[in-house]
Amino acid sequence: MKAAEIRQTFLKFFESKGHQIVASSPVVPGDDPTLLFTNAGMNQFKDVFLGFDKRSYNRATTAQKCIRAGGKHNDLDNVGYTARHHTFFEMLGNFSFGDYFKQDAIAYAWELLTTKFNLPAEKLWVTVYAEDDEAYEIWNKQIGVPAERIVRIGDNKGGRYASDNFWMMGDTGPCGPCTEIFYDHGPEIAGGPPGSPDEDGDRYIEIWNNVFMQFNRDEAGVMHKLPKPSVDTGMGLERLAAVLQHVHSNYEIDTFVALLAAAKAAVDAAGGQDCDKDSPSLKVIADHIRACSFTIVDGIIPGNEGRGYVLRRITRRAIRHGYKLGARTPFFHKIVAELANQMGDAYPELRQSQQRVVEVLKQEEERFFQTIANGMEILEAALSGGAKQIDGETAFKLHDTYGFPVDLTADVCRERGVTVDQAGFQVAMERQRQQARAAGKFKMSAGLEYTGSATQFHGYEHLVCEHSKVTAIYVDGSPVQSAKSGDDAVIVLDHTPFYAESGGQAGDSGELRNGTTRVVVEDTIKIQADVFGHHGRVVEGTVNVGDQFAAKVNAEQRQHTVRNHSATHLMHKALREVLGAHVQQKGSLVNAERTRFDFAHNAPMSDAEVRKVEALVNAEILANAAASAKVMALDDAQKTGAMMLFGEKYGDSVRVLEIGSSKELCGGTHVQRTGDIGLFKIVAEGGVAAGVRRVEAVTGDNALAYLQQLEATVNGVAGTLKAAPGEVEARIHAVLDHVKQLEKDIAALKGKLASSQGDELVAQAIDLGGIKVLAATLVGADAKALRDTMDKLKDKLKSAAIVLAAVDGDKVQIAAGVTADQMGKIKAGELVNFVAQQVGGKGGGKPDMAMAGGSNAAGVPAALASVQAWVAERL
Ligand code: ALA
Repeated sequence: MKAAEIRQTFLKFFESKGHQIVASSPVVPGDDPTLLFTNAGMNQFKDVFLGFDKRSYNRATTAQKCIRAGGKHNDLDNVGYTARHHTFFEMLGNFSFGDYFKQDAIAYAWELLTTKFNLPAEKLWVTVYAEDDEAYEIWNKQIGVPAERIVRIGDNKGGRYASDNFWMMGDTGPCGPCTEIFYDHGPEIAGGPPGSPDEDGDRYIEIWNNVFMQFNRDEAGVMHKLPKPSVDTGMGLERLAAVLQHVHSNYEIDTFVALLAAAKAAVDAAGGQDCDKDSPSLKVIADHIRACSFTIVDGIIPGNEGRGYVLRRITRRAIRHGYKLGARTPFFHKIVAELANQMGDAYPELRQSQQRVVEVLKQEEERFFQTIANGMEILEAALSGGAKQIDGETAFKLHDTYGFPVDLTADVCRERGVTVDQAGFQVAMERQRQQARAAGKFKMSAGLEYTGSATQFHGYEHLVCEHSKVTAIYVDGSPVQSAKSGDDAVIVLDHTPFYAESGGQAGDSGELRNGTTRVVVEDTIKIQADVFGHHGRVVEGTVNVGDQFAAKVNAEQRQHTVRNHSATHLMHKALREVLGAHVQQKGSLVNAERTRFDFAHNAPMSDAEVRKVEALVNAEILANAAASAKVMALDDAQKTGAMMLFGEKYGDSVRVLEIGSSKELCGGTHVQRTGDIGLFKIVAEGGVAAGVRRVEAVTGDNALAYLQQLEATVNGVAGTLKAAPGEVEARIHAVLDHVKQLEKDIAALKGKLASSQGDELVAQAIDLGGIKVLAATLVGADAKALRDTMDKLKDKLKSAAIVLAAVDGDKVQIAAGVTADQMGKIKAGELVNFVAQQVGGKGGGKPDMAMAGGSNAAGVPAALASVQAWVAERL
């Protein structure tokens, strides 16, 4: 049975048992920023298990794309070293949401394995959770599995996840005891039964995990009973395929045979020269192409943090293995085509995004191939010393300068039995982080000691706080009791309307004022999560800790910022609509002037796409919908479908900002109605990094000013052209056509002029015993005219040495020609250089014709005059 048939057989079996076939969810969970990648079939049903979400069915079955390459479930380090681990794999699962429980789950599993897949019962082993007598009895009494093939496995208190027979999706969420089914590949493979010291061998392979979901584990580790006992199962398609295809390694199943062949061909073509087809490196490559491709399909691009960094690590690891096999140019992206062949039917999104996947991988490869050779050389040098450990500094240098993720370095080292000083590496990383922080703008605020009360922020509703009390003052980074007129200070207030820079939105400016004192605030930056530092200059009086001030935000500047921020949300939404759901925010900066938004997308936006985004955003502005912000629990926010950013640290309660059709988590300040934005205009679009585009846009009066400026430019051009603004384009085309025609005419005239001068010059040639010597200037000639005239003169003079010069401002062009009969004595190249060096230049060419340039027009007459003597010397 091919993998595709196995997948179908599984789904159809459970469909026949009343299960709804549900499509795989993406590998990137869009609505769960706490989860790195989809790691199990149950992820998309998490809320159904918890009772927060209801579906029209209470039994479901899926083939789910999963990635276990980071986070709680991480198999990355095992890939290539065992027969059964993958970064990406397909999980076949059946689910009961409060419907059937242990009895039916076990019976279904057994029926499918032994009657549909025809596995011999005596090859199957099972494990149950140590205290789960009920499951034990079902297996033993009802199914008839003998006691010697049922193993009780204890809960080792969360130390390991999958094999302790108590399964949890992560630190929190639905969980429960499980029963696992193992297949015995036979005594010729090393390894012992589950629970034995040798269980990690490849002989007894877990193929199916049936979880009896009963609890929801909270952050404190407390187990809350689920509304109804449920079932969640997961069977690795690749492992089952290995069993059914009578092979011992997942890498020998049909899908992988094809991918391994494609990997070998790609590596060979890139310099691998018939690399070893059994090399573990090829397995790593064949495995990694799946994880990388499916991640890119779901909108991730290689980057330096979060999911993007996981993708980069896996990609570079694959590249390094190709490099080890001899590849010296990009090869990895070439395997995508075969992957689409193998898996495109089951997962059509792969074919839809195929081109993009190829491009993203190719760019990442081109990048890494620039540094990998030098990096490997350094690593080899470090390894050659015979040390058992690579020091943290070297690992850091490889990371920082050569783009070697530390696990890639560790992967190379592991092949030589060497380890990496991970702690030393972390120290070096932390040092760099500190330096980067110190170098940044935050140096004035971050690191300030502060133990007072937090700042209450009132700036969502108010732009003025009449009675703000100073709780701390800093001058030159040190706490002080007071600051006087002329001092630059950071002032902390107990209440403030000033927004402190965060979430991409710039901090507010404004002033603090009381009867005696005035402080001009230039920026507001957080000292701690909820402590606001007002950066400014005391311009009148003295500020003391404990003083009260009226704190007043610069309203105009804030309004500008707010418009740009709200427009950013609408633009984000519009970009996803126009370019696709892979568009994900990679960075944003919103201030009073403009919004700058970076996002994942692989191609420049076309003019039509830019216009479409502008039209969508402006339509939302015209609709003038009210904006609303609600603070709610993170869980509830997730349920509203609000957009969240992965890697962003959200607290327990978050602010959901709805504006127009956009819904995002956001702590920033916003307009009241979309109409307040006024007008939205994109002013720039470009690339900032591989796969990341940047759009800049303006709003409100800034947008008007931008358009007025453009109009003024067009009007100015129209005035110069003496045309109406609407005619400018046609007029410029006409002018350019005219210019082209004139250039042609001039070239023709130059030719004519030169040739008529040439006729006159024949008479000026001087006869030196049979050879004619001529050195003259051609007025208005270009290089072509010089050459053409030279040819004519040679024809006419028959036996000659000729130098022609043309002058244009200071610039000089010189041609030297010698007829064939004289070339034994006189070389055109030498002649042209003899003349050229007198006018500050040099040149070269063939013995019969050479050209040179020069920069000293004044020297031309003397240089030409010297030609005759030079030729005479050589006769
Ligand atoms: N969710 C269970 C697992 O991943 C079935 O093993």
